[in-house]
Order: sequence, then C-alpha cells, then structure tokens
Amino acid sequence: MIKILISFFISLTFISCDVVNQDLPQNNYAQNQRAGEIFERCIACHGQNAEKHALGKSDILASYSSLQIKDALESYRAGTRDKHGMGALMKAQVIDFSGFEIRILSVYISEL
Ligand code: HEC
Repeated sequence: MIKILISFFISLTFISCDVVNQDLPQNNYAQNQRAGEIFERCIACHGQNAEKHALGKSDILASYSSLQIKDALESYRAGTRDKHGMGALMKAQVIDFSGFEIRILSVYISEL
C-alpha cells in the first residue's frame, strides 16, 4: 500500500511538471497562414526568421518559446513591458491584436 501511495505521489509530481512546462498548442494550417500574414509586419525589424536584434535593441525572438513570446506581446499590449526602453514602440505594433492573434503569432514565430 505504501509503495502504491509513493508511486502515486511521484507520478503526481511528474504530471504537475508537465503542466508547468507545457507550451502553447500547435497552430492548424489556416492559423499558420494567418499568423504568417501578421508576421509580415514584424520582419523589417525582427528579421525574416526572427533572427535579428530589432533596431539593435530587442532580444532575438528565435530564442524565445511560444509562451515567452505570448507573455511579452500581452504585456506590450497592456503597456506593462519596456525591457529595452522601447516598449511604447512595441505597444503600437500589437495594440490592435486579439488574444487569438497573439496566440497563433507566438506559436508561428517560435517555429520559424
Ligand atoms: C519598428 C521595429 C519593430 C517592429 C515593426 C516590431 N518590433 Fe518587436 N521589438 C522591437 C523593439 C525595439 C523591441 C524591444 C522593446 C523593449 O524595449 O521592450 C521589440 C521587442 C519585441 C519582443 C520582446 C523581445 C524583447 O527583447 O523583450 C517581441 C516578442 C516582439 N518584439 C515581437 C514583435 C512582433 C510579433 C512584431 C510584429 C507584429 C514586432 N515585434 C514588430 C522593434 C520592432
């Protein structure tokens, strides 16, 4: 009985780790198409493959997970992120995005 209890608690720990590390769900084909269209607006600064320091300032988005991108974009939209002193510029980029657009865009960029 004790063994069963112990293995139960061990598996619980693994399950909760999984939840914490979980990334956003994949885009379907249409969502990827849409996200690709939106990303056109970001390429000038962040690069075709999200490989640039935008305006010599930003982090390289290719190194971010989809969750990190989503969190960053949501905070810019809310006006609460200003990591390199250019948060206002990024706020203007994402202010009209819906939560759905932010999500599919974040998944798309993380897979470039
Ligand atoms: C005019 C240039 C420009 C455009 C266009 C632009 N960005 Fe940015 N982006 C920046 C700059 C500069 C920063 C750093 C902002 C700061 O100080 O926090 C940044 C930061 C970011 C970050 C967080 C990375 C970090 O360093 O904190 C994400 C994510 C991001 N941009 C996504 C996007 C997306 C998605 C688009 C298109 C919808 C976009 N950006 C369009 C210049 C741009």
